[in-house]
Amino acid sequence: MADIIFKNVSKSFEGKQVLKDLSFSIRSGECFTILGPSGCGKTVVLRLIAGFEIPDSGQIIIGDEVVADPDKGLCKAPEERLLGVVFQDYAVWPHKTVRQNVTYPLEMQNVPKEQRRERSQRAIDMVNLSGYEDRLPNQLSGGQQQRVALARALVANSDILLLDEPLTNLDANLREEMRFEIKEIQKKTNSTILYVTHDQEVALAISDRIAIMTPTGDFCQISDAETVYEHPVNLFGFRFLGVANCLRCTQKNDKTCLAEDGTPFVQLDEEYAFLAASPTFIAGFRPMDVQLSRTGDGFDAVVERCTLLGNIVDYRIRIGKTSFRVQAQTEDAIQNDIIFTAGESCKAIFDEMHWFEDDHTFEEVLV
Ligand SMILES: Nc1ncnc2c1ncn2[C@@H]1O[C@H](COP(=O)(O)OP(=O)(O)OP(=O)(O)O)[C@@H](O)[C@H]1O
Ligand SMILES: [Mg+2]
Repeated sequence: MADIIFKNVSKSFEGKQVLKDLSFSIRSGECFTILGPSGCGKTVVLRLIAGFEIPDSGQIIIGDEVVADPDKGLCKAPEERLLGVVFQDYAVWPHKTVRQNVTYPLEMQNVPKEQRRERSQRAIDMVNLSGYEDRLPNQLSGGQQQRVALARALVANSDILLLDEPLTNLDANLREEMRFEIKEIQKKTNSTILYVTHDQEVALAISDRIAIMTPTGDFCQISDAETVYEHPVNLFGFRFLGVANCLRCTQKNDKTCLAEDGTPFVQLDEEYAFLAASPTFIAGFRPMDVQLSRTGDGFDAVVERCTLLGNIVDYRIRIGKTSFRVQAQTEDAIQNDIIFTAGESCKAIFDEMHWFEDDHTFEEVLV
């Protein structure tokens, strides 16, 4: 069991700073996920921990051992750090079979031969690759190669697993199955997992804590899944964690209106009254947090589109000139008689609203 600690770590490439004074710690036994957009520096963090990159400054500590401290000229080699790693490109040995790939870390650790076979078979079974033991990587699909890499990281029973987008090439079913599997493995082995992804669904499902990484390489929030989802600290985090409606609002004579055409909208929470001082601010809500009805309370709205998507119904709704997305469980939608045809009018009640500063970064993307 081990903690991983970053202390004021900075890293640049060719004069471009990717990480600046980044500090955070991962508790032993937890699954810590870094969630952030492409290019923000997630893989760089993982490679620094694994020992494939050297920080420009700061310290990296694993357990009670400083593994990198450039001020002291210290940087332990990757093989000295005893980590299980799955890289984003899942680099498996092309000339080794599945079994040889998976057994390799055990050879490195001088595990006795009889145990090697049993342990590698267990890891191969765990990732659903039984029957493929003698194949070479070029005889496998991308998802299968990714699973070989996962088995190879698991086989060594390391205290720490570093997983960089390990499920991206798997189909939806297998991805779901594997994320439960990773969680199970973590529970069984008590290992510490650093999981890197831009997939918020996987992050929410698997993590004890999630760090939201911004395009500038900072962590804007580190918290458990429920908190980052329910209480995002800023617009970036809110938008990154799922389908998000972001409506630009303005305050006129103490009333909150949609900025586009001045239509009255949900009143700004008192707690966020300070936002009213800015010319515009943002009302954010998830598609599931709106209740539609044919009559009764709520804002007057128009149904622009209503699509049945299996167990959910997806709507595009308009208030004044501003459109947004709403979703309902199909069962509830049928029960509440809200399967509309385009052009019908309806009422909309907003259950849960988040208020943010307008950072002028978002474009409204409506599908
Ligand atoms: N060896 C390198 N040489 C030069 N630039 C690098 C190197 N490694 C990473 N970078 C740069 O650092 C930044 C962060 O890269 P990184 O691979 O960590 O992104 P990421 O968050 O993992 O993105 P993705 O989700 O696409 O994998 C990028 O701008 C990248 O071009
Ligand atoms: Mg990456």
